[in-house]
Amino acid sequence: MIWSLVGGLVLTSHAGAPFYVPVPTGLHQLDITEENVLTAGKVELGKQLFFDPRLSRDNSTSCASCHDAAKGWSNGSKYGVGVGGRKGSRNVPTLINVAYQDHLFWDGRAQSLEQQVYFPAASKDEMDLSLDEAAARLNKISGYRQQFEEEFSGPATAERIAKCIASFERTIVAANSPFDRFRTGDISALSPSARRGHDVFFFRSNCAFCHNGPNLTDGKFHNTGVGMELPSPDMGRFAVNENNELERGAFKTPTLRDISRTAPYMHDGSLETLEEVVEFYSRGGRMNPYLDEMISSILMSEQDKADLVVFLTEGLKSDSYSIPDPPRLSE
Ligand code: HEC
Ligand code: HEC
Repeated sequence: MIWSLVGGLVLTSHAGAPFYVPVPTGLHQLDITEENVLTAGKVELGKQLFFDPRLSRDNSTSCASCHDAAKGWSNGSKYGVGVGGRKGSRNVPTLINVAYQDHLFWDGRAQSLEQQVYFPAASKDEMDLSLDEAAARLNKISGYRQQFEEEFSGPATAERIAKCIASFERTIVAANSPFDRFRTGDISALSPSARRGHDVFFFRSNCAFCHNGPNLTDGKFHNTGVGMELPSPDMGRFAVNENNELERGAFKTPTLRDISRTAPYMHDGSLETLEEVVEFYSRGGRMNPYLDEMISSILMSEQDKADLVVFLTEGLKSDSYSIPDPPRLSE
């Protein structure tokens, strides 16, 4: 077994060997279930699969096409673009610290990363190839066949693909931002403007009612009024959790870590800049019958708004953010 230490990560060539994800300041150690322990082999396979367009019907689209680390693990556009250039109808969420999310998707319809992988694979607007079909393809590629054999003592299957991709996603962590250092006592970590913005965020507005905890989200669903002006708005959580009238037009509170990297914003990508987001909240979101009771107009001066944007931009930018080199894909 060969061990090597790269920037705090323990890597090994031995299949089944554990993989340790560094825990930057501001995050806590994750509990990883017994059903899918993190191993170096799964993370490496998962990374290749994440970047491999052969997991799509026409070999055009990989997970990384829409979740691009250089664009904050999103795609810089209003909507996702998948096979045949087909557009989805929702903005691509970042995958930064996605392992810390309790519910996945804007409407929370998946509960684990393993379960989530099945959706983009099968979606006509995304990759349009079921994981079973993908497994059949991978088993024809000798490099992959060998890697799956080493890791699982057997061929690629839908479940094993999902386990590998989920394992890779658990390594996408970022924190140790000026905000985290400020909280641990380094007062000078935030510039004077970012610090004033911090105070607006935590003490002089409603932001932290919903954006709180290590990932700056409560993991819950709220109607802020985004998109509610449309004749038939996206009902979000309501469509998944049918009986709850209160969840009409409610969407998951997104993380705000590294938020300056992931424009445009909101589930429909309708706001292009953080200035527009702050303006939206200062007016009290968009009035509609299901508006969350925690949303109302906020008294903010132009200076307050500018400071809030500086806090979101500079204050929440992680030091530990990294853009991985694309892997060499198995042949
Ligand atoms: C065509 C663009 C596209 C492709 C390809 C794509 N995604 Fe996504 N992804 C999206 C969009 C859009 C959403 C949000 C959809 C929704 O909430 O209904 C999303 C949501 C997610 C989420 C939930 C994040 C959260 O915070 O809730 C995860 C995890 C994810 N994708 C992982 C993947 C993986 C893994 C792959 C490859 C197997 C993949 N995606 C392929 C566009 C894409
Ligand atoms: C009632 C809960 C709630 C409050 C209060 C709240 N947010 Fe949000 N925030 C959300 C939800 C839910 C979304 C997603 C809304 C959607 O797309 O429909 C969101 C989206 C955002 C986004 C876009 C993130 C992305 O990835 O697209 C930013 C930035 C943001 N909020 C910042 C703030 C700031 C700054 C404040 C205070 C001025 C604030 N929020 C107050 C719940 C809240």
